[in-house]
Amino acid sequence: MDADRAQAFRTKYGPWALVAGASAGLGAAYATQLAALGLNLVLVARRAPELEALATALRERNHVETRTLALDLGQPDAAALLDQQTADIEVGLLVYNATRSLIGPFLDLALDDHLDELAVNVRTPMELAWRFGRRFSARRHGGVILMSSMSASLGSALISNYGATKAYTLVLAEGLWEELRAQGVDVLAALPASISTPGAQASGAQRQRAADATTLTPEVVARETLAALGRGPTVTPGGVVKLASFFMKRVMPRTSAIRMMGRVMRQMYGRSQEPHA
Ligand SMILES: NC(=O)c1ccc[n+]([C@@H]2O[C@H](COP(=O)([O-])OP(=O)(O)OC[C@H]3O[C@@H](n4cnc5c(N)ncnc54)[C@H](OP(=O)(O)O)[C@@H]3O)[C@@H](O)[C@H]2O)c1
Repeated sequence: MDADRAQAFRTKYGPWALVAGASAGLGAAYATQLAALGLNLVLVARRAPELEALATALRERNHVETRTLALDLGQPDAAALLDQQTADIEVGLLVYNATRSLIGPFLDLALDDHLDELAVNVRTPMELAWRFGRRFSARRHGGVILMSSMSASLGSALISNYGATKAYTLVLAEGLWEELRAQGVDVLAALPASISTPGAQASGAQRQRAADATTLTPEVVARETLAALGRGPTVTPGGVVKLASFFMKRVMPRTSAIRMMGRVMRQMYGRSQEPHA
């Protein structure tokens, strides 16, 4: 980002940014790049030591202020707590990166886990968008970045509930983009394919993804997403991903694309289970 755009970014989205899901991977990349732009950071995730280590590094390197809040974003009062605990500072940017990403046959996974996935991926970001959207609207400027996924565009076997939460995120962000821009608030959904994060590595799919041209680093995804804020309702980081996304959404018949995604998911996660024709 050039110096003029960085200054404009600070003015519009500063002086504080809140990154939910900041202790690792993509969330840490967002925090690092926002600190380099001169924004103060509220860092949120469950693991306090990781948040503290990142906060210390950002303070030393970028001379910004930091605040860490160790919190489970699936708990019902998470958004209200974040609102209360930042009431004394001027937050201008909300980045919701945290996710619960269940992988496996829908019926084999525990119902409580599906419900927690809804809480982390849908309820809390929606409530934060409402709470912080009101704060940003009152001061007539601000930004909201919500992490969706390429999986938002059609149902994918083995991640049916996860994909549905990301579809919710996409549609919420698109609607809010149109609704809030007249009030100076920019909303953006990011739709990456795969990112080389610790979260993705833990899912067991990384070996298959390593040679995949659609896999991007967290740094690239954060950079392209931050650059896209204020320029439209969605961003698809990565040129190859844009092409793949166009092909799947606009060229392939939807049923064929769903079946193809099912085959890809079973290969990626080593499941032999095939549906009956
Ligand atoms: N990785 C991919 O391939 C990929 C592809 C498409 C879209 N995305 C999207 O990109 C975003 C980043 O995903 P990622 O898996 O790669 O994650 P990541 O950025 O590497 O890490 C996820 C962050 O969320 C935090 N988190 C998870 N559950 C939480 C909870 N219940 N409460 C508080 N914090 C929580 C984790 O910290 P703690 O463990 O310390 O809580 C961590 O800081 C997600 O929204 C995901 O849907 C990822």
